[in-house]
Amino acid sequence: MSQTTIQSGLSGPQYDAWLGYHAALPGANDTARKAAPLWSKRVEVQEQHEVMDTALTELSQGLGKLYGVQPEMIKSQTQGSQQNERGPAIRLGTWAGSDFAANVLTDAERAAVHGEGFIIREDESQRELVIGSETPQGILYAVFHLLRELTLKQEGAEAGAAAVAVATESQPERIVINEQPVNSLRMINQWDNVDGSIERGYAGRSIFYENGEFTQDIGRIRDYARLLASTGINAVAINNVNVHRKESLFLTERYLGDVAKVAAAFRAYGIRLFLSANYASPIEVGGLQTADPLDEQVREWWSIQTAKVYAAIPDFGGYLIKADSENRPGPFTYNRDHADGANMLAEALRPFGGLVIWRCFVYNCKQDWRDRSTDRARAAYDHFKPLDGRFADNVILQIKNGPMDFQVREAVSPLFGAMEDTNQIIEFQITQEYTGQQRHLAFLVPQWKEVLDFDTYAKGKGSEIKRIADGSLYQRPYSGFAAVSNIGADACWTGHPLAQANLYGYGRLGWNPDLSAEQIADEWVRLTFGHDEQVVERITGMLLSSLDIYENYTAPLGVGWMVNPDHHYGPNVDGYEYSKWGTYHFADRYGIGVDRTVKSGTGYTSQYHPENAARYESLETCPDELILFFHHVPYTHVLHSGKTVIQHIYDTHFEGVEQAEALAETWRELEGKVDPVIYSKVAELQAEQAEHAKEWRDMINTYFYRKSGIQDEHARKIY
Ligand code: GCU
Repeated sequence: MSQTTIQSGLSGPQYDAWLGYHAALPGANDTARKAAPLWSKRVEVQEQHEVMDTALTELSQGLGKLYGVQPEMIKSQTQGSQQNERGPAIRLGTWAGSDFAANVLTDAERAAVHGEGFIIREDESQRELVIGSETPQGILYAVFHLLRELTLKQEGAEAGAAAVAVATESQPERIVINEQPVNSLRMINQWDNVDGSIERGYAGRSIFYENGEFTQDIGRIRDYARLLASTGINAVAINNVNVHRKESLFLTERYLGDVAKVAAAFRAYGIRLFLSANYASPIEVGGLQTADPLDEQVREWWSIQTAKVYAAIPDFGGYLIKADSENRPGPFTYNRDHADGANMLAEALRPFGGLVIWRCFVYNCKQDWRDRSTDRARAAYDHFKPLDGRFADNVILQIKNGPMDFQVREAVSPLFGAMEDTNQIIEFQITQEYTGQQRHLAFLVPQWKEVLDFDTYAKGKGSEIKRIADGSLYQRPYSGFAAVSNIGADACWTGHPLAQANLYGYGRLGWNPDLSAEQIADEWVRLTFGHDEQVVERITGMLLSSLDIYENYTAPLGVGWMVNPDHHYGPNVDGYEYSKWGTYHFADRYGIGVDRTVKSGTGYTSQYHPENAARYESLETCPDELILFFHHVPYTHVLHSGKTVIQHIYDTHFEGVEQAEALAETWRELEGKVDPVIYSKVAELQAEQAEHAKEWRDMINTYFYRKSGIQDEHARKIY
């Protein structure tokens, strides 16, 4: 079996996260353990593959924890066993490498899944469980899926049962699962720097680097790969998109050996490694005078360097590029556009099957706050829409979910639905830069769901963003999800233990965007904390209400920001108001909000297809929660809710604090019912959140009371 024994020294419920399989969790009892299925005592496999070995190890560990038995592992190289000779066992394999799958599954069944999809089928006598896929990765996903379903089914949990079909009326429940990932690329972006820091990281130092070197603790990276693969992640970029001098050397002999070791850890879990690359590498690393994408020497430099990368890492994924964005170099310096830049890299990667992932987070970060005509929200569309159809087939554009920057509330990016002839993936931010920095609770899955379910009307009704992200609307070869990770070297990975739910939820949504936020929350809580009904109900309730609560006491009605500059934690209404970053609220004594209408504002609304453009353009139809994103209105403007804008601000901020206090109280009810280390950590953080919410409430309410001079209808305390 593969080197799974290399483990970092850490363990315990907070480290195991959702992969504890209820060993010693409250709610897991002997009855559940004794109910080991007949097939769980023996595992048979006929083929040898690194990822398959990982799957076997996971299966063995998982069954061991769930049922208290170590299954016997039988590896035979010979195919041809007959159904009637076979005793109870799990039999797993790919179509090509194993006849177990062939003997039990019909052609039609096999044709129903492909690539990383899989089938899990229990026979009628419940003596045999066959796991089949076209690929070893599919087998690994199947194993994680099976273990998840078995864990969820313990103690009669509802959530897992949904995916398990009942064979016949008279038969007991039989396991029949077909799963196909909806998105082909399911990627994580690390914003880790080689000095060991993490840009926008709130969970300790990097697990990848320290003091300018790669870490020696490959075990920790492997444990991370395991967490990611268990949710279906299949790609990772291991360094910050802001590539500094030292990280530019990752493409060179100086670091390639180290990168290869990390790639190996991820490879064992079916995850392809990418690097963020510095667009100006030919100058900074190669000693050339230019990085002009049309310069022959520059092109040659990238080709040679890329060949070296592939010599070290044959399955290397490709380059993730942040160019001409927030002071990073790019093709604009040479009067070239982004298609020129991306296509040049695409050419270097093409011979090896590599991809260029090119970010669309491009805007003027040196704007003059006095200039009301420049609108940062317009920028990505204005830059990239005209380039539709010009990108090489191995280029993918990575587009942030919103046009600004991962705010608690903003519109969706109008670039989705604007580029029919371009590969694109959606970028989310799991790390909570603007949503409480893993000190406040904010379960982000409901926000991501809203974005994914948004109908762009690009090809008429039913053109949801999830169908653009998954490639189906435009029939694109490459598509999917990317997100900025929220993990670090913290014992619980994510700073706030409940922030693990965001990492889990992102992976699950990438696999299947139609899962509901409720189901994902329920799964995560049960897998992490067990099936005690009070625990499940309280924690899912906390998760599902958390983002609305955070929104209530922070920036109102979609206007965003109001945070302290640079580090972005805590309230500061005018923090960015007179800055160069293009992030303004324009509050004065009469009103607030950004006029992005065609009629009187920046014209941004016209970037949407007519149905949405009209809805946002008109004050009558613009949804309340985005009113200040699209319109500048008087404080006395009456929302659809019947409240004035100013009263809405007061009410939500008072309410938000009460809700934050209630979160802390709810958690306190769980003392003794969850792991004590997790309990104390969350208790502390929820108390801090409740206190800090007051700071937000009082600053925002006071600011707008002073600006507007309008009293709170309920005469509550405003300073
Ligand atoms: C935000 C964030 C930066 C980050 C940037 C990006 O602006 O604050 O730290 O580099 O997004 O996505 O590139």
